[in-house]
Amino acid sequence: MNLFPLMRPFIHALPAERAHDLAVAALKKGVMPLPLTKEYPQLARSLFGLHFPSPIGMAAGFDKNAEAFPALLRAGFGFVEIGTVTPRPQPGNPKPRLFRLKEDEAVINRMGFNNDGMERVAERLERRDRAAGIVGVNIGKNKDSEDALADYLAGLKRLGKLADYVTVNISSPNTPGLRDLQRREHLMPLLDALNAAKGNTPLLVKIAPDLERGALEGIAQAVIESGTDGVIISNTTIERPASLRSAAKEEQGGLSGRPLLEPSTRILRDFSAITGGKIPLIGAGGIASAADARARLEAGASLVQLYTALVYQGLELVGLMKDELSGDT
Ligand SMILES: Cc1cc2nc3c(=O)[nH]c(=O)nc-3n(C[C@H](O)[C@H](O)[C@H](O)COP(=O)(O)O)c2cc1C
Repeated sequence: MNLFPLMRPFIHALPAERAHDLAVAALKKGVMPLPLTKEYPQLARSLFGLHFPSPIGMAAGFDKNAEAFPALLRAGFGFVEIGTVTPRPQPGNPKPRLFRLKEDEAVINRMGFNNDGMERVAERLERRDRAAGIVGVNIGKNKDSEDALADYLAGLKRLGKLADYVTVNISSPNTPGLRDLQRREHLMPLLDALNAAKGNTPLLVKIAPDLERGALEGIAQAVIESGTDGVIISNTTIERPASLRSAAKEEQGGLSGRPLLEPSTRILRDFSAITGGKIPLIGAGGIASAADARARLEAGASLVQLYTALVYQGLELVGLMKDELSGDT
Protein backbone atom coordinates (compact mmCIF):
# COMPACT_ATOMS: atom_id res chain seq x y z
CA MET A 1 0.00 0.00 0.00
CA ASN A 2 1.21 3.50 -0.80
CA LEU A 3 1.35 5.37 2.51
CA PHE A 4 2.90 8.54 1.14
CA PRO A 5 -0.38 10.40 0.42
CA LEU A 6 -1.31 9.91 4.10
CA MET A 7 2.07 11.05 5.37
CA ARG A 8 2.51 13.98 3.01
CA PRO A 9 0.63 16.62 5.06
CA PHE A 10 2.85 15.86 8.06
CA ILE A 11 6.03 15.88 6.02
CA HIS A 12 5.03 19.12 4.29
CA ALA A 13 4.23 20.76 7.63
CA LEU A 14 7.99 20.70 8.26
CA PRO A 15 10.38 23.20 6.67
CA ALA A 16 11.57 21.65 3.40
CA GLU A 17 15.20 21.19 4.37
CA ARG A 18 14.25 19.64 7.71
CA ALA A 19 12.01 17.14 5.90
CA HIS A 20 14.86 16.34 3.51
CA ASP A 21 17.36 15.83 6.33
CA LEU A 22 14.95 13.54 8.19
CA ALA A 23 14.36 11.49 5.04
CA VAL A 24 18.10 11.06 4.47
CA ALA A 25 18.64 10.13 8.14
CA ALA A 26 15.78 7.61 8.07
CA LEU A 27 17.07 6.03 4.87
CA LYS A 28 20.59 5.90 6.30
CA LYS A 29 19.52 4.29 9.55
CA GLY A 30 17.18 1.86 7.80
CA VAL A 31 14.12 3.02 9.74
CA MET A 32 12.17 4.15 6.69
CA PRO A 33 9.96 1.33 5.33
CA LEU A 34 11.05 0.90 1.73
CA PRO A 35 8.53 0.20 -1.00
CA LEU A 36 9.00 -3.23 -2.56
CA THR A 37 9.69 -2.91 -6.26
CA LYS A 38 9.98 -5.48 -9.01
CA GLU A 39 12.85 -5.78 -11.42
CA TYR A 40 11.99 -5.97 -15.11
CA PRO A 41 14.65 -7.38 -17.44
CA GLN A 42 13.03 -5.53 -20.33
CA LEU A 43 13.83 -2.16 -18.66
CA ALA A 44 17.54 -2.93 -18.30
CA ARG A 45 20.06 -1.19 -20.51
CA SER A 46 23.80 -1.08 -21.02
CA LEU A 47 25.59 2.23 -21.29
CA PHE A 48 29.14 3.42 -20.57
CA GLY A 49 30.03 -0.26 -20.12
CA LEU A 50 27.64 -0.41 -17.14
CA HIS A 51 24.52 -2.51 -16.67
CA PHE A 52 21.58 -0.35 -15.55
CA PRO A 53 18.74 -2.55 -14.19
CA SER A 54 16.30 0.26 -15.03
CA PRO A 55 16.62 3.65 -16.73
CA ILE A 56 15.26 5.62 -13.73
CA GLY A 57 17.91 7.20 -11.54
CA MET A 58 18.04 9.43 -8.48
CA ALA A 59 19.30 12.87 -9.53
CA ALA A 60 22.16 14.63 -7.73
CA GLY A 61 21.45 16.80 -4.71
CA PHE A 62 19.32 14.47 -2.59
CA ASP A 63 22.13 12.27 -1.28
CA LYS A 64 24.86 14.90 -1.31
CA ASN A 65 27.12 13.04 1.12
CA ALA A 66 26.72 9.38 0.08
CA GLU A 67 24.65 8.35 3.09
CA ALA A 68 21.37 7.15 1.63
CA PHE A 69 22.31 5.56 -1.70
CA PRO A 70 22.15 1.89 -0.55
CA ALA A 71 18.53 2.40 0.56
CA LEU A 72 17.70 4.35 -2.61
CA LEU A 73 19.02 1.49 -4.74
CA ARG A 74 16.95 -0.98 -2.69
CA ALA A 75 13.89 1.25 -3.20
CA GLY A 76 14.10 0.58 -6.92
CA PHE A 77 16.31 3.21 -8.54
CA GLY A 78 18.38 1.86 -11.41
CA PHE A 79 21.23 4.16 -10.36
CA VAL A 80 21.91 6.90 -7.83
CA GLU A 81 23.99 10.04 -8.34
CA ILE A 82 25.50 11.35 -5.12
CA GLY A 83 26.86 14.88 -4.60
CA THR A 84 27.58 17.53 -5.55
CA VAL A 85 30.82 16.95 -3.65
CA THR A 86 33.52 19.63 -3.43
CA PRO A 87 37.18 19.06 -2.43
CA ARG A 88 36.79 20.75 0.97
CA PRO A 89 33.67 20.61 3.16
CA GLN A 90 31.51 23.72 2.99
CA PRO A 91 28.32 24.87 4.74
CA GLY A 92 26.44 26.22 1.72
CA ASN A 93 24.22 29.29 1.77
CA PRO A 94 22.36 30.63 4.82
CA LYS A 95 19.00 28.99 5.62
CA PRO A 96 16.24 29.03 4.55
CA ARG A 97 17.49 27.89 1.15
CA LEU A 98 14.98 25.27 0.05
CA PHE A 99 11.36 26.11 -0.80
CA ARG A 100 8.37 24.05 -1.90
CA LEU A 101 6.15 25.55 -4.60
CA LYS A 102 3.21 23.24 -3.93
CA GLU A 103 0.73 24.71 -6.40
CA ASP A 104 3.35 24.31 -9.13
CA GLU A 105 4.67 20.88 -8.05
CA ALA A 106 8.06 22.55 -8.01
CA VAL A 107 10.94 23.44 -5.71
CA ILE A 108 13.37 26.34 -5.59
CA ASN A 109 16.75 25.67 -4.00
CA ARG A 110 19.82 27.77 -3.36
CA MET A 111 21.65 25.22 -1.22
CA GLY A 112 25.08 26.25 -2.57
CA PHE A 113 26.91 22.89 -2.48
CA ASN A 114 26.60 22.23 1.24
CA ASN A 115 28.55 18.98 1.65
CA ASP A 116 30.99 17.03 3.82
CA GLY A 117 33.88 17.33 1.34
CA MET A 118 35.53 14.64 -0.74
CA GLU A 119 37.49 12.91 2.03
CA ARG A 120 34.47 12.00 4.15
CA VAL A 121 32.49 11.04 1.07
CA ALA A 122 35.39 8.90 -0.18
CA GLU A 123 35.49 7.03 3.15
CA ARG A 124 31.80 6.20 2.78
CA LEU A 125 32.17 5.10 -0.84
CA GLU A 126 35.18 2.92 0.02
CA ARG A 127 32.91 0.80 2.23
CA ARG A 128 30.21 0.32 -0.39
CA ASP A 129 29.17 -2.97 -1.95
CA ARG A 130 29.74 -2.27 -5.63
CA ALA A 131 27.46 -5.15 -6.60
CA ALA A 132 24.50 -3.39 -4.93
CA GLY A 133 24.02 -0.98 -7.82
CA ILE A 134 25.37 1.87 -9.88
CA VAL A 135 26.54 4.99 -8.04
CA GLY A 136 27.61 8.09 -9.94
CA VAL A 137 29.53 10.86 -8.20
CA ASN A 138 28.76 14.47 -9.06
CA ILE A 139 31.71 16.81 -8.46
CA GLY A 140 31.93 20.58 -8.11
CA LYS A 141 34.20 23.39 -7.00
CA ASN A 142 34.39 25.10 -3.63
CA LYS A 143 32.78 28.52 -3.50
CA ASP A 144 36.01 30.23 -2.40
CA SER A 145 38.26 28.35 -4.82
CA GLU A 146 40.11 30.43 -7.41
CA ASP A 147 41.02 27.45 -9.55
CA ALA A 148 38.00 25.53 -10.82
CA LEU A 149 40.04 23.05 -12.85
CA ALA A 150 42.17 22.13 -9.83
CA ASP A 151 39.01 21.45 -7.80
CA TYR A 152 37.43 19.24 -10.46
CA LEU A 153 40.72 17.38 -10.96
CA ALA A 154 41.03 16.82 -7.21
CA GLY A 155 37.46 15.48 -7.03
CA LEU A 156 37.98 13.21 -10.02
CA LYS A 157 41.26 11.84 -8.68
CA ARG A 158 39.92 11.16 -5.17
CA LEU A 159 36.45 9.90 -6.09
CA GLY A 160 36.75 8.61 -9.67
CA LYS A 161 37.90 5.09 -8.79
CA LEU A 162 35.16 4.80 -6.18
CA ALA A 163 32.45 5.82 -8.66
CA ASP A 164 30.76 3.99 -11.53
CA TYR A 165 30.72 7.31 -13.36
CA VAL A 166 31.63 10.91 -12.55
CA THR A 167 29.52 13.95 -13.43
CA VAL A 168 31.15 17.35 -13.84
CA ASN A 169 28.62 19.84 -12.54
CA ILE A 170 29.06 23.17 -14.31
CA SER A 171 25.41 24.15 -14.16
CA SER A 172 24.39 24.88 -10.57
CA PRO A 173 23.04 28.44 -10.37
CA ASN A 174 24.07 28.69 -6.71
CA THR A 175 27.87 28.90 -7.02
CA PRO A 176 28.85 32.28 -8.47
CA GLY A 177 30.49 32.03 -11.89
CA LEU A 178 30.05 28.25 -12.17
CA ARG A 179 27.82 28.31 -15.22
CA ASP A 180 30.36 30.42 -17.15
CA LEU A 181 32.34 27.17 -17.40
CA GLN A 182 29.74 26.10 -19.97
CA ARG A 183 31.21 28.57 -22.46
CA ARG A 184 33.20 26.75 -25.10
CA GLU A 185 36.47 28.56 -24.42
CA HIS A 186 36.32 27.50 -20.75
CA LEU A 187 34.74 24.10 -21.31
CA MET A 188 37.19 22.78 -23.86
CA PRO A 189 40.33 22.96 -21.66
CA LEU A 190 38.35 21.78 -18.62
CA LEU A 191 36.98 18.70 -20.37
CA ASP A 192 40.31 17.96 -22.07
CA ALA A 193 42.12 17.91 -18.73
CA LEU A 194 39.44 15.84 -17.00
CA ASN A 195 39.23 13.29 -19.81
CA ALA A 196 43.00 12.91 -19.70
CA ALA A 197 42.73 12.10 -15.98
CA LYS A 198 39.58 9.93 -15.92
CA GLY A 199 41.22 6.53 -16.47
CA ASN A 200 38.47 3.94 -16.95
CA THR A 201 35.75 5.99 -15.25
CA PRO A 202 33.06 7.31 -17.61
CA LEU A 203 32.94 11.11 -17.48
CA LEU A 204 29.69 13.04 -17.91
CA VAL A 205 28.98 16.75 -17.88
CA LYS A 206 25.75 18.26 -16.52
CA ILE A 207 24.36 21.37 -18.19
CA ALA A 208 21.75 24.02 -17.49
CA PRO A 209 18.42 24.33 -19.30
CA ASP A 210 18.98 28.07 -19.81
CA LEU A 211 21.12 27.83 -22.95
CA GLU A 212 20.67 29.25 -26.43
CA ARG A 213 21.18 27.16 -29.54
CA GLY A 214 24.66 28.61 -30.14
CA ALA A 215 25.76 27.77 -26.60
CA LEU A 216 24.46 24.22 -27.01
CA GLU A 217 26.45 23.85 -30.23
CA GLY A 218 29.62 25.00 -28.45
CA ILE A 219 29.05 22.49 -25.65
CA ALA A 220 28.36 19.70 -28.14
CA GLN A 221 31.61 20.44 -29.93
CA ALA A 222 33.61 20.48 -26.68
CA VAL A 223 31.97 17.22 -25.51
CA ILE A 224 32.71 15.41 -28.78
CA GLU A 225 36.25 16.72 -29.24
CA SER A 226 37.26 16.02 -25.64
CA GLY A 227 35.92 12.46 -25.63
CA THR A 228 33.44 13.13 -22.83
CA ASP A 229 31.21 10.07 -22.42
CA GLY A 230 27.78 11.63 -21.88
CA VAL A 231 25.72 14.68 -20.95
CA ILE A 232 23.07 15.14 -18.25
CA ILE A 233 20.34 17.55 -19.37
CA SER A 234 19.41 19.36 -17.21
CA ASN A 235 20.09 21.08 -13.93
CA THR A 236 17.60 23.57 -12.40
CA THR A 237 16.54 26.77 -14.19
CA ILE A 238 16.99 30.38 -13.17
CA GLU A 239 13.98 31.27 -15.34
CA ARG A 240 10.63 31.94 -13.66
CA PRO A 241 7.81 30.95 -16.03
CA ALA A 242 4.82 33.29 -15.91
CA SER A 243 2.62 30.32 -15.03
CA LEU A 244 4.07 29.99 -11.49
CA ARG A 245 1.41 30.46 -8.79
CA SER A 246 3.14 29.66 -5.48
CA ALA A 247 4.07 32.35 -2.97
CA ALA A 248 7.73 31.25 -2.97
CA LYS A 249 8.16 31.83 -6.71
CA GLU A 250 10.29 34.93 -6.20
CA GLU A 251 12.89 33.15 -4.08
CA GLN A 252 16.35 33.15 -5.60
CA GLY A 253 17.88 29.89 -6.75
CA GLY A 254 17.22 27.08 -9.17
CA LEU A 255 13.69 25.99 -10.04
CA SER A 256 12.97 22.28 -10.50
CA GLY A 257 9.92 20.08 -10.94
CA ARG A 258 6.96 20.35 -13.29
CA PRO A 259 7.74 23.84 -14.75
CA LEU A 260 11.12 22.45 -15.85
CA LEU A 261 9.61 19.55 -17.81
CA GLU A 262 9.14 21.41 -21.07
CA PRO A 263 12.43 23.41 -21.16
CA SER A 264 14.55 20.38 -20.17
CA THR A 265 12.91 18.21 -22.81
CA ARG A 266 13.37 20.88 -25.46
CA ILE A 267 17.08 21.37 -24.68
CA LEU A 268 17.65 17.61 -24.64
CA ARG A 269 15.92 17.18 -27.99
CA ASP A 270 17.99 20.03 -29.48
CA PHE A 271 21.22 18.63 -28.09
CA SER A 272 20.37 15.18 -29.44
CA ALA A 273 19.72 16.68 -32.88
CA ILE A 274 22.97 18.69 -32.81
CA THR A 275 25.01 15.59 -31.93
CA GLY A 276 23.08 13.30 -34.27
CA GLY A 277 22.20 11.11 -31.30
CA LYS A 278 25.85 10.05 -31.01
CA ILE A 279 26.41 11.21 -27.41
CA PRO A 280 24.54 9.30 -24.66
CA LEU A 281 22.19 11.65 -22.81
CA ILE A 282 20.59 11.43 -19.38
CA GLY A 283 17.36 13.42 -19.12
CA ALA A 284 16.38 15.23 -15.90
CA GLY A 285 13.89 17.98 -15.14
CA GLY A 286 10.28 17.66 -14.11
CA ILE A 287 9.94 13.93 -14.71
CA ALA A 288 7.06 12.79 -12.51
CA SER A 289 5.44 9.83 -14.27
CA ALA A 290 6.12 6.91 -16.59
CA ALA A 291 4.73 8.98 -19.46
CA ASP A 292 7.22 11.77 -18.70
CA ALA A 293 10.08 9.27 -18.62
CA ARG A 294 8.95 7.66 -21.87
CA ALA A 295 8.71 11.06 -23.57
CA ARG A 296 12.24 11.96 -22.45
CA LEU A 297 13.60 8.65 -23.74
CA GLU A 298 11.83 9.32 -27.04
CA ALA A 299 13.36 12.83 -27.16
CA GLY A 300 16.82 11.24 -27.17
CA ALA A 301 17.69 10.26 -23.60
CA SER A 302 19.14 6.84 -22.80
CA LEU A 303 18.40 7.18 -19.08
CA VAL A 304 16.43 9.59 -16.89
CA GLN A 305 16.78 11.02 -13.39
CA LEU A 306 14.34 12.66 -11.03
CA TYR A 307 14.31 14.42 -7.69
CA THR A 308 11.49 16.97 -7.18
CA ALA A 309 8.69 14.50 -8.00
CA LEU A 310 9.70 12.53 -4.90
CA VAL A 311 8.83 15.56 -2.75
CA TYR A 312 5.23 15.33 -3.99
CA GLN A 313 4.82 11.61 -4.63
CA GLY A 314 7.29 9.83 -2.35
CA LEU A 315 9.64 6.96 -3.08
CA GLU A 316 6.74 4.73 -4.14
CA LEU A 317 6.78 6.63 -7.42
CA VAL A 318 9.89 4.77 -8.61
CA GLY A 319 8.29 1.32 -8.49
CA LEU A 320 5.04 2.60 -9.98
CA MET A 321 6.93 4.14 -12.89
CA LYS A 322 8.81 0.91 -13.52
CA ASP A 323 5.57 -1.13 -13.41
CA GLU A 324 4.00 1.17 -15.97
CA LEU A 325 7.06 1.47 -18.20
CA SER A 326 7.29 -2.30 -18.39
CA GLY A 327 3.63 -2.59 -19.34
CA ASP A 328 2.74 -4.33 -16.07
CA THR A 329 -0.01 -2.08 -14.70
C1 LIG B 1 17.14 20.54 -3.36
C2 LIG B 1 17.90 20.27 -4.63
C3 LIG B 1 19.28 20.17 -4.58
C4 LIG B 1 20.00 19.91 -5.75
N1 LIG B 1 21.35 19.79 -5.67
C5 LIG B 1 22.06 19.46 -6.79
C6 LIG B 1 23.45 19.26 -6.72
O1 LIG B 1 24.07 19.34 -5.66
N2 LIG B 1 24.10 18.97 -7.88
C7 LIG B 1 23.45 18.85 -9.08
O2 LIG B 1 24.09 18.56 -10.10
N3 LIG B 1 22.12 19.01 -9.16
C8 LIG B 1 21.41 19.31 -8.04
N4 LIG B 1 20.05 19.47 -8.14
C9 LIG B 1 19.39 19.38 -9.46
C10 LIG B 1 18.80 17.99 -9.72
O3 LIG B 1 19.80 17.00 -9.74
C11 LIG B 1 18.04 17.96 -11.07
O4 LIG B 1 18.96 18.17 -12.11
C12 LIG B 1 16.95 19.02 -11.14
O5 LIG B 1 16.31 19.19 -9.89
C13 LIG B 1 15.88 18.67 -12.19
O6 LIG B 1 15.22 17.46 -11.86
P1 LIG B 1 13.80 17.42 -11.07
O7 LIG B 1 12.90 18.40 -11.73
O8 LIG B 1 13.35 16.00 -11.21
O9 LIG B 1 14.10 17.78 -9.67
C14 LIG B 1 19.31 19.74 -6.99
C15 LIG B 1 17.92 19.84 -7.01
C16 LIG B 1 17.21 20.09 -5.87
C17 LIG B 1 15.70 20.19 -5.93
